[in-house]
Amino acid sequence: MTVSSPEPGDLEALGREASGCTRCRLAVGRTQVVFGTGTPAADLLFVGEGPGAEEDRQGLPFVGRSGKLLDRLVGEELGMTRESCYIANIVKCRPPGNRDPKPDEIEACRPWLEGQLERLRPRVVVTLGNTATRTLLGTTEGVTRLRGRSYPWRDIVLVPTYHPAAVLRGGPSAMAEMRADLVRAKLALAGAGAAG
Ligand code: URA
Repeated sequence: MTVSSPEPGDLEALGREASGCTRCRLAVGRTQVVFGTGTPAADLLFVGEGPGAEEDRQGLPFVGRSGKLLDRLVGEELGMTRESCYIANIVKCRPPGNRDPKPDEIEACRPWLEGQLERLRPRVVVTLGNTATRTLLGTTEGVTRLRGRSYPWRDIVLVPTYHPAAVLRGGPSAMAEMRADLVRAKLALAGAGAAG
């Protein structure tokens, strides 16, 4: 049996559909939907929480201070760029004042992320911070306890790590831990990646 390869058009079409989304109250305050960025052929998917002010302005995920750090660490630890992976968020519209997304907003937005997962079929997912990690693993446990290992999730290796904004606040030890998590993701991509 052959498994169909990713269809770039499918992902783009889904992004166009999402751009008019009014499934939740976040539609009211957004400038634009921040669907995701990267290659539709990505083996590696990063999932953050939701767009901030700069992301809302540019329509791209992780383009503010957190994004600059993510870009740097992805380069240094994985030897990759944002163009060679895919970056998305749990909610695609900016929560007002950068508050955490509410459970019903996360639920309303979930089909877009599921659509991205179906089309991308990534081998490894790195969840950035509590919201992404809890939402995908379906737990209330915090990322501090969950990180440091990988998890079999569907047919994917899921690697939880800190949100880069937390690393910016958390200093050298948080940075070292996030680097170690990204090395874990790299090993999983290389195929040595049985979860654990
Ligand atoms: N924080 C996130 O979780 N996502 C972004 O896109 C930017 C900041």
